[in-house]
Amino acid sequence: MGTKMHLSTVLMILIITVLSRTPWVASVVVPSSNCYAFNNSSHIVDFSSWIGHLFEYEGKDSDLVIRFCKDVESRSQTGYVDFGRFDIFNYFIAGSGQSHFVQGFHNGDLMNCEQSYDKMGRTAQVNIICGNCLTGQCKGRLGCICSVTYESNCRVLVELAIPCEHPGPRVFQGFTVGFHPRSWELVYNGLTQFGFAKSFRDFSFRTEQLQVTLYMTAIASLSSSVQKPSVKVLPNEGLEVRLSGSAANGMPPTTLTPSMLIVGWRCEVARDTPYEVNITIPVEGYEPIHFVLTKMCEYKQAEEGGTTRGWAIFGVLSCIFFVFSTLFCCGGFIYKTKVERQRGIDALPGMTILSACLETVSGAGQGYSRPEDLNSGVASEASWERPPGSVQGPRRSTERKYGSI
Ligand SMILES: *[C@@H]1O[C@H](CO)[C@@H](O)[C@H](O)[C@H]1NC(C)=O
Ligand SMILES: *[C@@H]1O[C@H](CO)[C@@H](O)[C@H](O)[C@H]1NC(C)=O
Ligand SMILES: *[C@@H]1O[C@H](CO)[C@@H](O)[C@H](O)[C@H]1NC(C)=O
Repeated sequence: MGTKMHLSTVLMILIITVLSRTPWVASVVVPSSNCYAFNNSSHIVDFSSWIGHLFEYEGKDSDLVIRFCKDVESRSQTGYVDFGRFDIFNYFIAGSGQSHFVQGFHNGDLMNCEQSYDKMGRTAQVNIICGNCLTGQCKGRLGCICSVTYESNCRVLVELAIPCEHPGPRVFQGFTVGFHPRSWELVYNGLTQFGFAKSFRDFSFRTEQLQVTLYMTAIASLSSSVQKPSVKVLPNEGLEVRLSGSAANGMPPTTLTPSMLIVGWRCEVARDTPYEVNITIPVEGYEPIHFVLTKMCEYKQAEEGGTTRGWAIFGVLSCIFFVFSTLFCCGGFIYKTKVERQRGIDALPGMTILSACLETVSGAGQGYSRPEDLNSGVASEASWERPPGSVQGPRRSTERKYGSI
């Protein structure tokens, strides 16, 4: 009985662990709101479910109210004073010392705080303690404000204790992936953006687009953690995907020199629904970066590289042939002029064969006489090749035909 209980407990724990981890296995997707932070070892903590949650602290003249990830205000008989708002330019960061996280609220009411930095109005800082107040006064399950300190008329410091969300995976902060060297449409700060976290039918690459280039950047000091990307296609038949570029060769990206990942694809089979191209970039010590591109294949595409490669080989062979023929021709010519002491057309290699052929065709004996052999005074076609007074004397008298040596 005891052993059975034990076994089932272990099983339960295993199942719970697996289930609770499942959403994070594939990649780290950007949270649904801007109400999230990284703990100081880069684990993401998503507070989206806390947005707007009300915390009140009763003071002597006024009450302080925090609306989580929205604003901080001080309420009194005369109305309320805004002590800053949480917005996309906020900061929500890991704390130090006793507080685990720090939230900044800016741009509160300006009246009587015109001297504040850059006319930002009243500001608030909320130090979040995960768990209980240090004094232990917080009894409720959803936390409470431990203390409120007005540093001035225009700035308030609040200590808030809440049961923090369980931290998520370790995010490779600072990493970006975009379609341009200075953009981050796909991955920003290590978080996969909406539309690229899973297959997104509304935005697919067209059939005719043969490749897409992605640019990646990382903080220089961490760039060597980035490893070679890999690709998976769903369904895994019908779309040929090739990765190339500096990122595919394992070049570490930095902020100044993005690495390039060229995704080349070719439709081998036409299909109604787009293909899912899952790209994973492993990062040492962090959750891998993962994003999905969708690709249409309305028609089948011929192998682009095949014909190009064919022509390239043909070109190289032609070139080699040309060079060799030239060398052979020149060599032959030089040999004949220097060693056999032939001149002009006679010295051209192959001329003897050509001449023999002509001789055969036109009938033996009826040779093709050279003009100068006929002793005519007419300027011959061949005469320009021969400098006057050259050593041709002995051969002059003998009738020569092409083909005779
Ligand atoms: C951040 O969260 C992780 C995961 O829970 C934890 O192991 C780590 O200790 C946390 N880091 C800090 C500095 O609190
Ligand atoms: C990390 O958090 C601890 C405790 O919250 C703090 O003491 C430490 O200074 C933090 N480290 C960094 C690098 O911020
Ligand atoms: C690609 O990613 C999607 C979404 O994360 C997932 O549903 C799918 O199974 C993945 N496909 C492959 C082949 O890994």
